[in-house]
Amino acid sequence: MTATPILFDCDPGHDDAIALVMAHRSPAIDLLGVTTTCGNAEIEKTTANCLRILEFIGAQDVPVARGCHRPLARPLVLGTADGPSGLEGSPYLPPAQGKVVSQHAVDFLAGKLAAQREPIDVVATGPLCNIGLLVLKHPQVLPKIKELTWMGGVFYRKSEIITPTEFNAFCDPEALKIVLDSGIPITMVGLDVTMQVLVEAPQFAEFERIGTPLGKVVLDWLKFYEKLHRNSMGIGGAMHDPLALAAVIDPTLIRTRPVHIGVNLAGSYCFGATVADFWNERGERPNAKIACDVDSDRFFDLLYSLLRD
Ligand code: BDR
Ligand code: CA
Repeated sequence: MTATPILFDCDPGHDDAIALVMAHRSPAIDLLGVTTTCGNAEIEKTTANCLRILEFIGAQDVPVARGCHRPLARPLVLGTADGPSGLEGSPYLPPAQGKVVSQHAVDFLAGKLAAQREPIDVVATGPLCNIGLLVLKHPQVLPKIKELTWMGGVFYRKSEIITPTEFNAFCDPEALKIVLDSGIPITMVGLDVTMQVLVEAPQFAEFERIGTPLGKVVLDWLKFYEKLHRNSMGIGGAMHDPLALAAVIDPTLIRTRPVHIGVNLAGSYCFGATVADFWNERGERPNAKIACDVDSDRFFDLLYSLLRD
């Protein structure tokens, strides 16, 4: 099997952390580099978490570049699911020994993309600050992005457990608009599908059974991570970011449809909302493919397999 080379932009964050683990463990993925952004926690914390996770899983050779400390046009509003450090639940993990590269994430991404002979995949699982800035600063490398697979947005809003806005979109909606308008091919893996991929009792039991050191860490992360979902919505932890990464490993896990997505940049209650024009009433060309169905069981089979020795 030829591994798919990817660049991975993230804000770890428990679910980002699990996606990082999957990217490193999957033989289908060649992880060329990781960039960090603010989001679930401040940039110092998401970067420290990223280094710490990569070292723990033996991926210390993967270069990490630190990115934006705030959204492009707004003050930072932090996520709430991951606790003060952004990665509560595994205090026994040692702090990282390694360091980030000297380049800013945006310049690192540009350099890596420019060096590719063929376009490659980029996966983003946080607010799009870095990717938005990449569009503004290095437009010449954008043709080297084959597909940007991003965890973000919410489109159907069918249920009371789905809010009108999704955190990554809400945190930096201007960056999202810049990316959507850039012409980069983009697949959006939003709450509509990620909220169907929940760690409930049967999944917890399977994580317990895995029993590897890595399986134990992931289980400890999940026990912390599910608290917000359980307390506020009565459901298990949603595998937002792991599903976006998994969709690159196996695109058949999700079904997508092309639509035009507008971003609400004003207002108070629906600020950051991603508005899908399903019936092309606005007459604008599709600027994204959005995930509308997911095979949750096969996602979990993939995740379990990557945690076993
Ligand atoms: C997204 O926001 C963050 O809390 C998660 O890491 C995920 O990327 C879900 O809305
Ligand atoms: Ca994230």
